[in-house]
Amino acid sequence: MTTILILFVFMNLDTILKTGHCTDTRDQVLSITPTTQKQVDILKNVSSHYETALWQPVSPEYIKEETQVHLFVPGNSSGIIKNLLRTHGITHEYAIYDWINRTTHDNPDTVKLILVGSSYEKRPLYALKLSLNNRPNKKAMWIDCGIHAREWVAPAFCLWFVHHSLSFYKVNKDITHILDNLDVYVLPVLNPDGYKYTWTKNRMWRKNRSQNNANNCIGVDLNRNFDANWCTEGASHDPCSEIYCGSFPESEPESQAVADFLRSNKDLVQLYLSIHSYSQMLLFPYSCTLEEAENHSDLLEMAQEAAQAIRRYYRNTYSYGPGGKTIYLAPGGSDDWAYNLGIKYSFTFELQDRGRYGFLLPTSHISRACNEALIAVKIIALKVIEKT
Ligand code: ARG
Ligand code: ZN
Repeated sequence: MTTILILFVFMNLDTILKTGHCTDTRDQVLSITPTTQKQVDILKNVSSHYETALWQPVSPEYIKEETQVHLFVPGNSSGIIKNLLRTHGITHEYAIYDWINRTTHDNPDTVKLILVGSSYEKRPLYALKLSLNNRPNKKAMWIDCGIHAREWVAPAFCLWFVHHSLSFYKVNKDITHILDNLDVYVLPVLNPDGYKYTWTKNRMWRKNRSQNNANNCIGVDLNRNFDANWCTEGASHDPCSEIYCGSFPESEPESQAVADFLRSNKDLVQLYLSIHSYSQMLLFPYSCTLEEAENHSDLLEMAQEAAQAIRRYYRNTYSYGPGGKTIYLAPGGSDDWAYNLGIKYSFTFELQDRGRYGFLLPTSHISRACNEALIAVKIIALKVIEKT
């Protein structure tokens, strides 16, 4: 798959998933940044003596310290190569596209790859459809992550969720019940151009990367680009603003792709979840107005129970409530739009932390952040199943 070429370097999934699950026998593209001359020498040696293909740089003599190397490793030599790297303390990272591809390959009966669209820079927007059970008339839930580029723990959560679902179906009672009753669509990186940009150019980038003709400023805030009181108070018409709403609702390929998919599947999808960071909040409609949603008390009860469970299990505090009143008016959000489309259970989660590290949440905090969110997802999904 050529898209693997677009490497989204990601935090080491071995660390994140705490499992050797990824070390299977298939082809992989490893992303490696040597930090010492010794490591440079080893990489040069590996790329010329083993059955691998150096994708970046063009030739081994250009491998140097602090510069990323992309090494294609065929399945049959992946064990040896990775051992070798490990022995010399060289860490490698996987790309999210690579991970998506492999997960789909490894679970042909339960995971389907769905191309929902492509980004402004033409990166594919892949969603994974988890369908663990073939019951007729199954409904579905949707989770998207990474609509805001710098919120790195969000894509990690999407992968975490997929991994948890595949590993604990028929093991954990709650996830089994959820997957028996719902198919789950997971879009790990809604804003891949922005995400890539945060890895390569500017860690604090939020918007997508679309070019504006009238003006030099780049990017639209995708979570202001949906058709829900579009570009009223809480969004901006200024292309240079961090909360630029775009030139019209769904002007961006990323928001349009998600909106199109949900429109075509609106009778199936009962629950919409959008994962952000940071500030530890469980939000629900509306954010585009201060008015109450029609099923406000249901939504409030679900969010409250989820927050209480997080407190009980992890002793951590999450606030909850309708977005507009809990944080600020923010029109054009995906959650409000999905809600108005008819998906009556619609939430935006803001994961850890509350500002100590902010967007720069250390790797060591990822597992707790994801587990907290997982508990909230489970409680809410179980409630949705009960109510529908
Ligand atoms: N921090 C998020 C944002 O600014 C909050 C999203 C809440 N939902 C919404 N529709 N604004 O996008
Ligand atoms: Zn966000």
